[in-house]
Amino acid sequence: MLAGLAFKRRWQNRRKAEGKPYDRPNIVTGSAMQVCWEKFARYFEVELKEVKLSEGCYVMDPDKAVEMVDENTICVAAILGSTLTGEFEDVKRLNDLLAAKNKRTRWDTPIHVDAASGGFIAPFLYPELEWDFRLPLVKSINVSGHKYGLVYPGVGWVIWRNKEDLPDELIFHINYLGADQPTFTLNFSKGTNILSQN
Ligand SMILES: Cc1ncc(COP(=O)(O)O)c(C=O)c1O
Repeated sequence: MLAGLAFKRRWQNRRKAEGKPYDRPNIVTGSAMQVCWEKFARYFEVELKEVKLSEGCYVMDPDKAVEMVDENTICVAAILGSTLTGEFEDVKRLNDLLAAKNKRTRWDTPIHVDAASGGFIAPFLYPELEWDFRLPLVKSINVSGHKYGLVYPGVGWVIWRNKEDLPDELIFHINYLGADQPTFTLNFSKGTNILSQN
């Protein structure tokens, strides 16, 4: 949800700067997504555009996803792997098709990878598989530590490709305990600190 929020704000800022309407954001994702994307869409008032599954294809079809992208799309969210079957979506093809569409339209639609479970598997089992920051349009990735045990209940992380991909205005700087604590969370008191590296 934090990644979605960052995409929404980046898209709005760009649209404002271009003098274009910024009140009808949408997100494109496959209909095998986890409920977090529906929750994001409803809580943050973003239209959810779902690529429907079809007989024999139980993940998001990248061709159909890119067709659904329009000027109001804040990002395409790909899943690695699907909550229902564990199957990985084809992030490389999505990146390539979207890059071509961005070039044609002069839009700048980015990709988020929901690697909640696959992010801890793919780098070890399929190191050659390109699904991550090797692909230029992948701007953020989330993973869930709690799915693998030996961590705090519910812990997960989201990482951004560049500092600019997380708008500064979403980060609060708190100094209750005598040191700067940058925070980008939906709750308080203490989330993990934001560590940044350019
Ligand atoms: C693909 C996918 N995304 C997101 C989530 C939610 O992650 P978390 O429980 O860390 O919030 C899950 C959990 O099942 C998932 O499988």
